[in-house]
Amino acid sequence: MRELSERIIHNQLLAEGIYHMRVESPTCAEEAKPGQFVHLSCSGTTTPLLRRPISICDINRPMEYMDLVYQVKGEGTALLARMEAGEKINMLAPLGHGFDLPKAGERVAIIGGGLGVYPMLFLARESKGINTSCLGFRNKELAVLVADFARFSRVEVATEDGSLGQRGYVTQLLEEGIQNGGFDVIYACGPLPMLKAVHEIALQYGIRCQVSMEERMACGIGACLGCACETAEGEMQHVCSCGPVFNSRELSWK
Ligand code: FES
Repeated sequence: MRELSERIIHNQLLAEGIYHMRVESPTCAEEAKPGQFVHLSCSGTTTPLLRRPISICDINRPMEYMDLVYQVKGEGTALLARMEAGEKINMLAPLGHGFDLPKAGERVAIIGGGLGVYPMLFLARESKGINTSCLGFRNKELAVLVADFARFSRVEVATEDGSLGQRGYVTQLLEEGIQNGGFDVIYACGPLPMLKAVHEIALQYGIRCQVSMEERMACGIGACLGCACETAEGEMQHVCSCGPVFNSRELSWK
């Protein structure tokens, strides 16, 4: 983990309330792994109290830039949305434990729901497996990055209102994929009920499964104690420092 001051290449509206920030970052381009996150200062340079953990959406290693996609949800992210190309942004990065990448040729299911779709793009890019990305959104308007995933994987989309792809939940796409050939490993990021459902499916079919618990993070640096999650052994762990990625069987899903 380092403290970096990086130049914003652009910071654009992607969909209602959702922004795409591209940042020049040779350090992250060299060191970051899929599933890791950055802790951004929302007020430009060094104000320490206004930081937000944002997952790394994608990294272009040769071009040395990093993409961050975030939803404006409060004061911090509203400040982020006002930052402009050319400004420097202070960050602690890269943070957390990322995904264990699949072996070449493995059949890989990449499951993202809502905001949990964004960090999975970097995984799709770096995975050398045979990738299927199952992406779930509330509706068509919030369905971002679908074409980007299509560069690195087969893509299936589900929306809750049926306005794009299949009507329903992303877990239905996962089950259909399992019936139609199966997977060697599942990776998932999204809301807790979705992750629990994905874990149960993985258990039922005996498939390895890693989940990113980033929804449970607040401060991102071990300061707020708001990210505790319980392991299957009954121990408490911090999502920000021990995760955000865990093997799903190591966690308690009660
Ligand atoms: Fe604050 Fe982990 S998010 S301690």
